Amino acid sequence: MRIDFTGKIVVVTGGAGGFGSATARTFAGAGARVVVSDINLEKAQAVASELEGAIAVRTDVTSPESITELFETVRTEFGGLDILVNNAGAPTPKRDLVDTSLDDINWLININYRSTVLASQAALPLMKGREGANIVNVASISARRPRPGGTVYNSTKAGVESFTLALAAEVAPEVRVNSVSPVISETGFITSIYGHNDLSDADRQRLVTGIPLGRTADTQDVANTIAFLASDLASFHTGVNLQVDGGRSIN
Ligand SMILES: NC(=O)c1ccc[n+]([C@@H]2O[C@H](COP(=O)([O-])OP(=O)(O)OC[C@H]3O[C@@H](n4cnc5c(N)ncnc54)[C@H](O)[C@@H]3O)[C@@H](O)[C@H]2O)c1
Repeated sequence: MRIDFTGKIVVVTGGAGGFGSATARTFAGAGARVVVSDINLEKAQAVASELEGAIAVRTDVTSPESITELFETVRTEFGGLDILVNNAGAPTPKRDLVDTSLDDINWLININYRSTVLASQAALPLMKGREGANIVNVASISARRPRPGGTVYNSTKAGVESFTLALAAEVAPEVRVNSVSPVISETGFITSIYGHNDLSDADRQRLVTGIPLGRTADTQDVANTIAFLASDLASFHTGVNLQVDGGRSIN
């Protein structure tokens, strides 16, 4: 059985980044029309221009107005929505809690947790009556296997996991809601933490220790898992958090 998204309308937030662009390509490759939503319009346009039937929309997920505009565009352009991937999110540079500013705390809550809540709230009315409609949220294995220096980020992702369960219970059976929890992957996310876009050999070694499959996640590992959960192959999955972690959570 192949995954087929022919005729499906899909929104991917943070769609210009590492996981987001791989996810947009994976959905489009299986026949979906993808809305590549990102704060970086130029990059979103570059991703959308490669994909048949895709459009790019500039969205700042920390802004409620910008989220409203995104789904207004979806309504106008497509008349409804089948799949929402709440992928936009970010960490701050490594910092202990006592050194974390109130601005950073608010920003982390907004970009990771509140964005997921508000985008889901705006998307649900567009999913009414659409067979197989579902939401996939991008959480993180750091919610359950936290490392020091990212306490607020890690716990916002626990919020995303918990929100997934709570919303899944509320909107069943019409809409399924699931999440993925990736382990570290060498995307723009690394730049946000370390200030440069390549891990040093020492940092990579340290991070890979504790991942039984012996490597960081590829963006395609995450995109494949999101596509599975969003597809009819997972039609009996809701409230599930699927780890994409090479076994990091075993121990
Ligand atoms: N890479 C990892 O190690 C890792 C691990 C677990 C979870 N995650 C999560 O995966 C998701 C995607 O991250 P990634 O690794 O692809 O990082 P990335 O930096 O490559 O991509 C993030 C994308 O989000 C966009 N973005 C940033 N601020 C935004 C805003 N305010 N509104 C809309 N878009 C915005 C960026 O422009 C970028 O295109 C995030 O939620 C992240 O927390 C990442």
